[in-house]
Amino acid sequence: MKVLIIGAEGMLGHDLEAVLKREHEVSTTTIHTMDITDLDKTVRTVGEINPQVVVLAAAYTDVDGSEERADLAYQVNVLGTRNVAVACQNTSSALVYISTDYVFDGAKGSSYQEYDPVNPLGTYGKTKYLGEVQVRDLLDRFYILRTSWLYGLHGPNFVATMLGLAEKMDQIKVVADQIGSPTYTVDLAEAINHLIKTPAYGVYHVTNSDHCSWYEYAQLIHQMKGVEVELQPVTTEEFGSPAPRPKYSVLDNYHWRLQGFPPLRSYKEALKDYLDLLK
Ligand SMILES: NC(=O)c1ccc[n+]([C@@H]2O[C@H](COP(=O)([O-])OP(=O)(O)OC[C@H]3O[C@@H](n4cnc5c(N)ncnc54)[C@H](OP(=O)(O)O)[C@@H]3O)[C@@H](O)[C@H]2O)c1
Repeated sequence: MKVLIIGAEGMLGHDLEAVLKREHEVSTTTIHTMDITDLDKTVRTVGEINPQVVVLAAAYTDVDGSEERADLAYQVNVLGTRNVAVACQNTSSALVYISTDYVFDGAKGSSYQEYDPVNPLGTYGKTKYLGEVQVRDLLDRFYILRTSWLYGLHGPNFVATMLGLAEKMDQIKVVADQIGSPTYTVDLAEAINHLIKTPAYGVYHVTNSDHCSWYEYAQLIHQMKGVEVELQPVTTEEFGSPAPRPKYSVLDNYHWRLQGFPPLRSYKEALKDYLDLLK
């Protein structure tokens, strides 16, 4: 298929390009070649490429920054997504939109299914959810994938941060009361490749299996890497990030499972592969 990846310089975008290139004719854009907030340019560029499938991996992804720069978050994540959806209307392309566990408030206390009501706590989650709404309103053929706690070789992420901090500090404070599922961008890219070859449009939760707190995750990262560092578990309130975050945002990959698609492996197995690549 002819596939366009928008946001190919991002963490997920990089791995998507490597995975999708194996089977498809892939074109890419970056913020430098096509800013999705520019409607005319977006419609023109997508029109020239005329892909069967567009994967939107570009977004304003700074969760804390979205509180201070809310207009930018809305401009990129809501209007930018609208612009891409309009472009897809013109070319009759199917659209893959990547959303987040932060569309939920975490109050349920157990894993979220695709059919659970959303209630984003912060600006980033709100804008990502409103991006979903643009896609649903404007297109018939879309895949909305909600994922969580991404890490990969080509972007800043929690794993890299933990390993970097361990080199500089004797003690690291890590939030122990937020639970989620770390997800490897390579595994998500493979799942996207699986999905776009089917007409199974709709909303999917797609994460690596199993879940943990940030604190447990940090323990595992350092243990697997053989790094000695003291980790201090703290509450969300003690840590004091600017943006509110859900306490329990594990995503049940329910729709994915019902559809009969192969479940993604445990985050622990995926983390081992990632750490091996860092060597
Ligand atoms: N990271 C996570 O933990 C996580 C969790 C759940 C869902 N997601 C979603 O997964 C997707 C991929 O995330 P990621 O972590 O790979 O993000 P990322 O590394 O921050 O990549 C996003 C890319 O979008 C580009 N971009 C920003 N504004 C743009 C614009 N106006 N026009 C075109 N490109 C623009 C960025 O360019 P610059 O870097 O130059 O600004 C960057 O290359 C996003 O939709 C994100 O919301 C991420």
